[in-house]
Amino acid sequence: MRPGKGKGFEMMKLAPSILAADFTVLGEQISRLEKAGVEYLHIDVMDGMFVPSISFGMPVIASIRKNSKLVFDVHLMVEEPIRYVEAFKEAGADLITIHAEACKHLHRTVMRIKELGLKAGVSLNPATPANVLEYVLGELDMVLVMTVNPGFGGQSFIEATLPKIVALKEMIQKTGKEIDIQVDGGISVDNVGRVMSAGANVIVAGTCIFRGDIEENVAGFKRKFEEFKEGRHGEGK
Ligand code: DX5
Ligand code: ZN
Repeated sequence: MRPGKGKGFEMMKLAPSILAADFTVLGEQISRLEKAGVEYLHIDVMDGMFVPSISFGMPVIASIRKNSKLVFDVHLMVEEPIRYVEAFKEAGADLITIHAEACKHLHRTVMRIKELGLKAGVSLNPATPANVLEYVLGELDMVLVMTVNPGFGGQSFIEATLPKIVALKEMIQKTGKEIDIQVDGGISVDNVGRVMSAGANVIVAGTCIFRGDIEENVAGFKRKFEEFKEGRHGEGK
């Protein structure tokens, strides 16, 4: 079976990353995304330890939660995130993704997120192999394959992550469960076809959503999703 087929085929989701937003008009830009029909809002939290940069945290999320019904997809680039998962739930997270590399006790951290009634995702840096998830995969709602080294927006897509998406899709199919594959970093309308063909169905994009016209950019990604669904996509395997 072609790796892109199956559940991911019908369930493409767009997850704009607010890291690239204009924070002077953040609420307004989120409303525009919501009206344009995006499914998730991707919220990048950076601690200056796990990744070199520091972004924003709970107060910002609590503030935007008041005016948005979007699924808040919180990507924690934070050392030992188990310390904060409850606080991010309180702030308004619906889905929390942690990094395998940042957790001493990955399984425990995943279970803590689920006990709080949230969806749980685990992210892998570009150099981390898919098989680190072998014994925890069945507990997850989503796997995030980083397609850049985390820490900054606007970086270039790393091609070597494509076979990892394919490998994860196969691992997920063996579990018989519905587990999303998200990609994050350097995604544009020019390469989204290839990540979808490899098996990704939740697409994060920062720069390529917020640079220029938000509505047009969302529509551009949605068109690519439609083309993919209809099998009109020429790229990839
Ligand atoms: C990187 C972040 C990404 C990033 C994506 O550390 O996790 O979500 O903001 O931004 P672009 O699409 O600009 O690569
Ligand atoms: Zn992210």
